[in-house]
Amino acid sequence: MGIKTISELDIAGRRLFIRVDFNVPLTPEGKVSDDTRIRESLPTIKLAIEKGARVVLASHLGRPKGKVDKKYTLEPVASRLAELLGADVTLTDEPVGDGARKVVNDLHGGQVALLENLRFSPAEEANEEAFSRALASYADVYVNDAFGTAHRAHASTVGMTKFVSEKGIGLLMEREVKFLGKLLGDVERPFVAIIGGAKVSDKIGVLDNLLGRVDQVLIGGAMANTFLKAKGGKLGRSLVEDDKLALARAFLKKAAEANIDVLLPRDAVAAAGTKSESGRVVQAMAVPEDLAALDIGPETARGFADAIARAKTIFWNGPMGVFESEPFAAGTLAIAQAVAAATGALSVVGGGDSVAAVHKSGLADKITHISTGGGASLEFLEGKKLPGLAALES
Ligand code: 3PG
Repeated sequence: MGIKTISELDIAGRRLFIRVDFNVPLTPEGKVSDDTRIRESLPTIKLAIEKGARVVLASHLGRPKGKVDKKYTLEPVASRLAELLGADVTLTDEPVGDGARKVVNDLHGGQVALLENLRFSPAEEANEEAFSRALASYADVYVNDAFGTAHRAHASTVGMTKFVSEKGIGLLMEREVKFLGKLLGDVERPFVAIIGGAKVSDKIGVLDNLLGRVDQVLIGGAMANTFLKAKGGKLGRSLVEDDKLALARAFLKKAAEANIDVLLPRDAVAAAGTKSESGRVVQAMAVPEDLAALDIGPETARGFADAIARAKTIFWNGPMGVFESEPFAAGTLAIAQAVAAATGALSVVGGGDSVAAVHKSGLADKITHISTGGGASLEFLEGKKLPGLAALES
């Protein structure tokens, strides 16, 4: 693809700007609650340190809407990173400016600085040239390792790359492209995709693109309700996207024509609402009027697990139910266990909740690749060219 990797770049003693994705969840007290993205960036950062680069890291955190908002400071991230590296990490007081310039210029080989949240400036998301040039002025060499943000055409992912002559991708980005790319190539069959989450509209692009590649699609989560209603089901108070029924019907028709097996839930765990302390198992096509389907039921979980056990290639994105609420988490955890148990298969998991389920079940090391990208992994599998990667092609 004509993109250099960090190992091919001369970084010793030079200012190496690494765009990372440290957009991590925080606790209400402002501590990092899941440091997966920070940990996944460590191989690139450690390599840069070992080679004696003067390391300048940059990331966004949350959506502060172009304003300084202390709720989104990268302070907790800098502390966690320093702990994980066992080295000092200097956080600048703003993403660009005199303070940031001084911190960057004072770096010695092997030292690490982190620019304050890039989205504290509206120029980052607007991809403004002056901001891009300011960021580029901190870089002798540019590396993008922020796979999770590669679908955004922002100053730090696209704009600044024009103003740095030596550039490439980091080890995390390389691994993401390698494994997600495998799913778009020749794979061992059967290839099973498990797609969940709330909205058909978020996933229809990936469903459509995978249609020509997979043998079976298993659909769970609230989006399954829309498919079930499109097939004539009674969904009670379940979340249904009524304006997407035609889209769901069209997808099911295309899948049938292509001989792709689409498995929808046969039973569901239903309750009055997400705050209910327990649910009851009902038929997925006949949810009582006063209840909402909040998880796949045990029969569905077994059926999905059987399909996963036969698969040689697996992609999973999106929870099977309201996973954050204990009474409705069993379906998602059952899928995490089934994917982890498929040890002979190439398994790729993406998206916050499905990744959290894999971690919660303690089975992360049994998965071939856990993507750090939610939206980015979906857009990649939709077959779209990610702007953050396209900007690095030569
Ligand atoms: C993500 O978490 O998906 C990325 O960090 C991108 O964040 P965004 O959706 O706010 O652009």
